[in-house]
Amino acid sequence: MKRTEIKDALQSTEYGKQINVKGWVRSRRGNKNVSFIALNDGSTIKNIQIVVDFEKIPESDLQPVTTGSCISATGTLVESMGKGQTVEIQATEIEVYGTADPNTYPLQKKGHTMEYLREIAHLRPRTNTFGAILRIRHNMAIAIHTYFHQHGYFYFHTPLITASDCEGAGQMFQVTTKNLYNLKKDENGQIDYSDDFFGKMAALTVSGQLEGELGAMALGKIYTFGPTFRAENSNTPRHLAEFWMIEPEVAFIQKDELMDIEEDFLKFCVKWALDNCHDDLQFLNDMFDKGLIDRLKSVIDTEFVRLPYTEGINILQEAIKNGKKFEFPCNWGDDLASEHERYLVEEHFGKPVIMTDYPKEIKAFYMKLNEDNKTVQGTDVLFPAIGEIIGGSVREEDYDKLMAEIERRQIPMKDMWWYLDTRRYGSAPHAGFGLGFERLMLFVTGMQNIRDVIPFPRTPKSAEF
Ligand code: 4AD
Ligand code: MG
Repeated sequence: MKRTEIKDALQSTEYGKQINVKGWVRSRRGNKNVSFIALNDGSTIKNIQIVVDFEKIPESDLQPVTTGSCISATGTLVESMGKGQTVEIQATEIEVYGTADPNTYPLQKKGHTMEYLREIAHLRPRTNTFGAILRIRHNMAIAIHTYFHQHGYFYFHTPLITASDCEGAGQMFQVTTKNLYNLKKDENGQIDYSDDFFGKMAALTVSGQLEGELGAMALGKIYTFGPTFRAENSNTPRHLAEFWMIEPEVAFIQKDELMDIEEDFLKFCVKWALDNCHDDLQFLNDMFDKGLIDRLKSVIDTEFVRLPYTEGINILQEAIKNGKKFEFPCNWGDDLASEHERYLVEEHFGKPVIMTDYPKEIKAFYMKLNEDNKTVQGTDVLFPAIGEIIGGSVREEDYDKLMAEIERRQIPMKDMWWYLDTRRYGSAPHAGFGLGFERLMLFVTGMQNIRDVIPFPRTPKSAEF
């Protein structure tokens, strides 16, 4: 018999029909006449109840049906008398696909800590919490593709292996086939990459932006959506060594339009979650974060604040004068720490902030310089509970100004010729941003740690699974 997904079975009203469901046993309880199995197949957070009458199926057949085992259950769909469920299945046949020894199966009891579940990331998708998070993660990916597709952007695939450090922060993981125990060096003691696989130093990308700009300079509007790698040795609840980033790049727009897109896009994604992930969000709201759904709704309904960096610093200085204590300094020219961003967003304004026009020294080389020669047209979006969720900017389209900046920063020219060609041939005003997918996931799920919104997190000293 063809399998019915539990999500569909729970919505069916075809009482009396024979159906088959398959899934993993969440629990089994009962008495000497009957057993109740709570079965979940991942299609929904809800379990279906299988009722086994020992007159039809001998109790001994149920011995291997323990928490974590996988079964196929066939039976009659009936209206349920139990509270909290509409239908159940009265079993006529149970087949056990895989047992799970109760003495060793790590997910015996409910209410494990998030830390413990990280140690068993290979099994945690079977919990209610991770089932919910992973279904939401899928839905957010679909939201992102839907948004850009509907708005005429093209999905542009940028390479994961690259020779250029887009953000210039030197946080790249090298890719090599060289024998690390016997490295060929030149007369200056530098590694000679000429015989390496790519014939030069290569690394995993920290951003698809530079290639994304090439796409926008031909297709007009593109976006990337792929894995990104950063060897930043920061063990924080908001950083991963491998994360997914969405990077739209748009020709012929200026700063205001860029901010409009950032805001519109984020609101679309959050609304998508509310519209498409109701049961999973409700579960997370009830179990972890009673303010979650209200917070999501409030973001859709509020206009984001647009705040120049210099004004932001003034607000922070004022707060310090009035007794606010921060761990890190925040004088003009400093990169804002998460505590500063969160003060502005959560305490001062009480809504998302798009911060603009940062000092050029704390931003990447490609950002468009303002007339003051001191600030650049960055447009980061700061979110409640998260801090920076989007990093964006207008790009410097002027060849001479861009060259001057590349030289000032001593960025090796030999790796940048192709990027500079966009400014040499048919340069155009353009702008774009990068959304950290897991930062969005943190916001939408209300989770506290970025390790809990990606199936298999990669962080310093941790690449298990
Ligand atoms: O601000 P970032 O470094 O900007 C860029 O990479 C630009 N090239 C984007 C662009 O304009 N096309 O990173 C963008 C976003 C951050 O705002 C943050 O959400 C996320 O990527 N991010 C990380 N997420 C998880 N772990 C990390 N280590 C992250 N680093 C950045
Ligand atoms: Mg940034």
